[in-house]
Amino acid sequence: MSDLPYIVGNWKMNGLRGMLSEARSIDRASARYPKVQVALTPPATLIHRLHEAMQSIGIGGQDCHAEESGAYTGDLSAQMLKDAGADFVIVGHSERRAVHNETDAMVRGKAEGALAGGLSVIVCVGETEAERDAGKAEEIVAGQVEGSVPRGKGAELRLSVAYEPVWAIGTGRVASVDDVAAMHRNIRAKLVSIYGEAGSGVRILYGGSVKPDNAAELMAADEVGGALVGGASLSAESFMGIVDAASQKVAE
Ligand code: 13P
Repeated sequence: MSDLPYIVGNWKMNGLRGMLSEARSIDRASARYPKVQVALTPPATLIHRLHEAMQSIGIGGQDCHAEESGAYTGDLSAQMLKDAGADFVIVGHSERRAVHNETDAMVRGKAEGALAGGLSVIVCVGETEAERDAGKAEEIVAGQVEGSVPRGKGAELRLSVAYEPVWAIGTGRVASVDDVAAMHRNIRAKLVSIYGEAGSGVRILYGGSVKPDNAAELMAADEVGGALVGGASLSAESFMGIVDAASQKVAE
């Protein structure tokens, strides 16, 4: 797994064809940052179009089914995403866990399906505000990592984990740099307990209200290997501000 900072824009359920021009701007600008790995996860309807139009950035899906094919109306398999041009997929986003009642076991099944389908995978974890207030954030997140990450030979080589505290998503509230660093160390320890030394190579991204003006300090925090960006990835200007902040980390 590369150790370049990894900045991934998650468009969520946003993006019609008109957004292709924004993606093109992101792609062109990203070519100037060879030391940052940049990717977008558009809605599935745009994966193929972005794949055809992009030259410097990665393209991913926002979810996949655990199975390769079958009678699952409305679902998409990892193979289908790959066929459309994706090279990775996000699984276990808190919006899927909350709205679609996805459990850790389901997320792990999807992550393993993604690897079997030839994709890399970003597994999302993160506590709710009530869980943090109850002092259980680290325990909850460690449990999510244990239950959600893929197993099997070499699984860790195509895995990233995104820590996204639920209360920081789309709210403008960002976790403090100390809390982010502490949680990323907690996740790192869990990954090493699962994969052995190889767990130290898994990138851990932070997500939750990352913006150009807070990205530099978040990227500089211990064990932060990149960012999963929602709202700020919908405009090339704000997204590239985050990519630029990540490039400063490399320059240090
Ligand atoms: P925001 O950056 O809009 O808070 O979203 C974060 C997120 O959920 C990315 O997956």
